[in-house]
Amino acid sequence: MTPLLAVHDLEMRFGSRLIQAGVSFTLERGCIFAVMGGSGCGKSTLLKHLIGLLPPHAGRIEYDGVDYWKSGDAERQRLRAGFGMLFQSAALWSSMSVLDNVLLPLERQTTLDARQREARAREVLEWVGLAEHAGKAPSELSGGMKKRAGLARAIAAEPPLLFLDEPSAGLDPISSVRLDELILDLRERTGAAVVMVSHELPSLLAIADDGIFLDADSRRPIAHGSPRRLRDDAQHPTVRAFLRRETPARQTPVIS
Ligand SMILES: Nc1ncnc2c1ncn2[C@@H]1O[C@H](COP(=O)(O)OP(=O)(O)OP(=O)(O)O)[C@@H](O)[C@H]1O
Ligand SMILES: [Mg+2]
Repeated sequence: MTPLLAVHDLEMRFGSRLIQAGVSFTLERGCIFAVMGGSGCGKSTLLKHLIGLLPPHAGRIEYDGVDYWKSGDAERQRLRAGFGMLFQSAALWSSMSVLDNVLLPLERQTTLDARQREARAREVLEWVGLAEHAGKAPSELSGGMKKRAGLARAIAAEPPLLFLDEPSAGLDPISSVRLDELILDLRERTGAAVVMVSHELPSLLAIADDGIFLDADSRRPIAHGSPRRLRDDAQHPTVRAFLRRETPARQTPVIS
């Protein structure tokens, strides 16, 4: 069966600066896929390529066998309507209330009428624990609350494909566990697939089925597989350090 998403030999650059090359993976329906790697290796940049915000320097991104960047505007728009995105910074519209932020994708991506949209938005805000804060401006929320509002906006229209950039960064451990449960629950209810950037080891080990590890030094992926398997089997010292919280072996200084 054609995978939901297939990335073939993607190369990402900003100008002449190479960020990552040789990125290839597939995402099956209902799969939670982790993008791992150190700070600055290109995880957020990869997500922006996947949702069509940045064009690849080389390589292909296919949704259901359709090459995103070879498609016309109407086809791209149709594909994008199936994406929900939580940006690393949450990227809420500051001039709108929390409720209006969550209403936005419901207006754009569903056929619900105004009353149904509001009911759905309030239901999702309740789900992420922000029911009391629906009328607030994003600037009145804490960092973790902004993340949850961004998550509510990303999942409101129940898109078949969710992109989450560090969803649990800035959340306390209990909220972080609750967020994992929300993601699993969403997958259970809607069959959504999730591409998730995360540094949270417990979360990665608990919920991700598959993943890729991007290396900042070689600018290439250095491991593929589920975080659990990579933790147990990976040979690369950077991957082991990340998934086992080991200190990478250092050269002993030679004192002459
Ligand atoms: N719009 C941009 N223009 C030029 N360079 C950029 C741009 N966005 C990101 N970069 C560079 O690309 C590299 C990868 O950035 P990216 O934000 O994807 O890293 P990341 O893996 O998400 O890091 P973190 O874990 O800290 O969020 C960095 O060196 C960054 O400086
Ligand atoms: Mg990032």
